[in-house]
Amino acid sequence: MNETSGIRRVDSPLTPSKIIEYLNRYIVGQEKAKRAVAVAMRNRLRRRALPPELAHEVVPKNILMVGPTGVGKTEIARRLATLSSAPFIKVEATKFTEVGYVGRDVESIIRDLTESAVSMVRRRMLETVQAPALERAEQRLLDALLPRPERERKFSMPGLMRVLGGTDSDEEDEEPDAAPQEPEEDRNSGTRTRLLTMLREGRLDGREVDIEVADSAAALPIFGAAGMDAMGINMGEMLSGVLPKRMKKRRMKVQEALRLLQSEEAEKLIDTDALAREAVDTVQEDGIVFLDELDKVVVRGGNSSGPDVSREGVQRDLLPIVEGSVVQTRYGPVRTDHILFIAAGAFSGVKPSDLIPELQGRFPIRVELEPLSWENLQQILTEPENSLIRQYKALISTEGAELCFTEEATAEIAKLAHKMNAEMEDIGARRLHTMMEQLLEEISFSVCDKETEKIRITPELVRERLSSLVEDRDIRRYLL
Ligand SMILES: Nc1ncnc2c1ncn2[C@@H]1O[C@H](COP(=O)(O)OP(=O)(O)OP(=O)(O)O)[C@@H](O)[C@H]1O
Ligand SMILES: [Mg+2]
Repeated sequence: MNETSGIRRVDSPLTPSKIIEYLNRYIVGQEKAKRAVAVAMRNRLRRRALPPELAHEVVPKNILMVGPTGVGKTEIARRLATLSSAPFIKVEATKFTEVGYVGRDVESIIRDLTESAVSMVRRRMLETVQAPALERAEQRLLDALLPRPERERKFSMPGLMRVLGGTDSDEEDEEPDAAPQEPEEDRNSGTRTRLLTMLREGRLDGREVDIEVADSAAALPIFGAAGMDAMGINMGEMLSGVLPKRMKKRRMKVQEALRLLQSEEAEKLIDTDALAREAVDTVQEDGIVFLDELDKVVVRGGNSSGPDVSREGVQRDLLPIVEGSVVQTRYGPVRTDHILFIAAGAFSGVKPSDLIPELQGRFPIRVELEPLSWENLQQILTEPENSLIRQYKALISTEGAELCFTEEATAEIAKLAHKMNAEMEDIGARRLHTMMEQLLEEISFSVCDKETEKIRITPELVRERLSSLVEDRDIRRYLL
């Protein structure tokens, strides 16, 4: 036996360079942070490919991203979230210091993460049962279209007639679903087959049909007591398992009915125990928690008294879940030992070393995000797929006008933004938002009144519109 026995190759296209490539579409610079998160995400996948004994030993290398405000920390988290094929959740540490927040329930982070895993796994499971669900849905639809054997006596086939011919006999027959299964079934089966063919060929699509579907509106509005909820027990759900589902008769187009029945059948085909097991497993093995604004729960110098107690309290509460503990959820107990935590904070007034030591030790990887140069700011304005310039251009184009910026103009905006950040409070790329708004305020207002086709933004215009902002200290005090 050599050391690599039982080790598989990672089976995922999400390589570090692919992750960075994706992040680059939205975030300018910050290479070190991008690399760190890309490697951390890849390491999750690598660990999964190890034999269980070894995988158990590999603890996640949690990351702490430190950098001034407005340079992309939260943005990186947001983009990772959409990219991640793993359960992912982003929370603000400050959430747990809010006034009125009773008994800071940091464990809810893990419960929310588990919920997101459940919907992820459910989506995946639903895909795999679509084909059998469709077959069942077709059968239910045929039941609705074809009359029950008792009604067949006088060849009065209201359901079928309505669908095929359109005689609108609207008699309501409320009858139990359990019709006797008798030889009539055989005679019926020929019609059934023909009808099924028509259904599959889409020839019934436009017709209407009455079907019985679960009445979601009838779900019991039961609110669990706070304690129940904390234990991960949902009263409404518990009872809905005990009480029979309320059914409701609805008339709709065949096409729509088929879709509805298919999704109902698909839900039924899902093994909820397997779903819970798999969700808990993927949370434990692949889960990622992004803990934003961690610096906001840090006390300068690390000593706490008075109102600061609550902030340090949050760190103490976070400690067990970061260190590894068991959290009870609706889907079973979840071990947090292998969940990856990525924390971020500006740490301007406080330092990472002001964190309580136990928590510091749990974030071995530190990455610094860089302050933004004016060149960075210009790139942020123009390059990302969702850049401000693209957004404004799109908005103005809805009025039939074209907004265009010369390169010198975007450089001028970036330089002015950089200057303001240097002279006043440094709010990073957020500065661009206020500057663009100020720059285009007049155009946004009057674009509808004039027959302008092309609006050119030149450096001169930028200086003219923004000079008051940059020069006038009195105004600046009121504007960000
Ligand atoms: N490097 C960057 N590339 C692209 N856009 C950026 C970058 N940095 C910041 N932005 C933009 O600036 C705004 C603020 O960024 P973000 O929310 O990431 O700041 P932050 O680093 O989390 O700051 P804070 O410490 O105040 O929470 C966002 O709209 C974001 O798109
Ligand atoms: Mg942020």
